[in-house]
Amino acid sequence: MATYRICLIEGDGIGHEVIPATRRVLDAAGFSAEYVHAEAGYEYFLDHGTSTPQATYDAVENTHATLFGAATSPTGQKPAGFSGAIRHLRQKYGLYANVRPTKTRPVPGAYENVDLVIVRENTQGLYVEQERRYGDTAIADTVITKDASDRIGKFAADLAMKRGKRLTVVHKANVLPVTQGLFLNTILDHAATVDGLSTSTMIVDNAAMQLVRNPQQFDVMVMTNMFGDILSDLAAGLVGGLGIAASGNVGDKFGIFESVHGSAPDIAGQGISNPTATILAAVLMLDHIGDHETARRIDAAVNKVLVEGPRTRDLGGTAGTEEFTNAVIAALA
Ligand code: NAI
Ligand code: MG
Repeated sequence: MATYRICLIEGDGIGHEVIPATRRVLDAAGFSAEYVHAEAGYEYFLDHGTSTPQATYDAVENTHATLFGAATSPTGQKPAGFSGAIRHLRQKYGLYANVRPTKTRPVPGAYENVDLVIVRENTQGLYVEQERRYGDTAIADTVITKDASDRIGKFAADLAMKRGKRLTVVHKANVLPVTQGLFLNTILDHAATVDGLSTSTMIVDNAAMQLVRNPQQFDVMVMTNMFGDILSDLAAGLVGGLGIAASGNVGDKFGIFESVHGSAPDIAGQGISNPTATILAAVLMLDHIGDHETARRIDAAVNKVLVEGPRTRDLGGTAGTEEFTNAVIAALA
């Protein structure tokens, strides 16, 4: 009998390439799992009128963890009845922490010695998706609660204490003292009670500049939902781009692991997507469920191939998804 049950959701676009590739790597690594395949995303919505069927909820709830490919959200419109699959799942399961590590890997052009984690509040802020329009005026709500700020602040402080013991709270409380101020002050109140934690604050626009100029100064950075969405793509760009950036959505009960990238419609279906981000999301998943040994072996195999090649196109090579995946599998042997 397999030790773990894992839910796999390909989703949309290159999700159909990177999830099967990652599954092959997990199998080759000898990860003991039984897989449950589930559907979610925009393609599913177009066929069935909902982005996430009940069977997917059952699969998420009845497995140890979920590995998610990517989901499309159509730009500038929201078809009646549609909700973005991954944002919906994050909210439904209270996956309040989006953990996005950025670590220097051996790829061309990567900054040296970067090792930071962006902890993004995952359920609130502007991404509560409460928008409306009155004639030519459009309004979006942003929701910040003390409880959710406290929860994410504690998560980030705990994570920092397991790493470099430095926490940076990124905010815009100078312009938005009520919402951003509540987030900032709630986290600072908790951080002040943590022995040995060194806490600093940084206004988000400066944080963007500091990430580009001197990313080595950061350990754990915590911020509201949209800032985390934007700065985590920026951070990914420092160390090789979206093709290698992984993330975990975790709550008290469930975890959904995914790449930072989206469905990449510009390259979907061509077999050229880089599966590394999703393979590294699987590594985060393995650590989360406790199979650290398999996690380390897969991580090392990925690094070996990043050094020795073949490389995918986003990293300057010519390999397709399959050739790269085969190389990772060979490196595991
Ligand atoms: P994207 O992340 O899908 O792509 C941005 C750029 O990076 C594209 O040029 C793409 O080809 C490239 N890229 C991304 N992943 C890659 C990979 N694994 N290998 C090689 N190149 C890769 O972002 P974009 O184009 O802004 O959004 C496309 C769709 O994805 C939208 O519908 C958006 O809403 C959705 N999206 C979904 C996310 C999720 O499921 N968590 C996250 C971000 C966007
Ligand atoms: Mg994003």
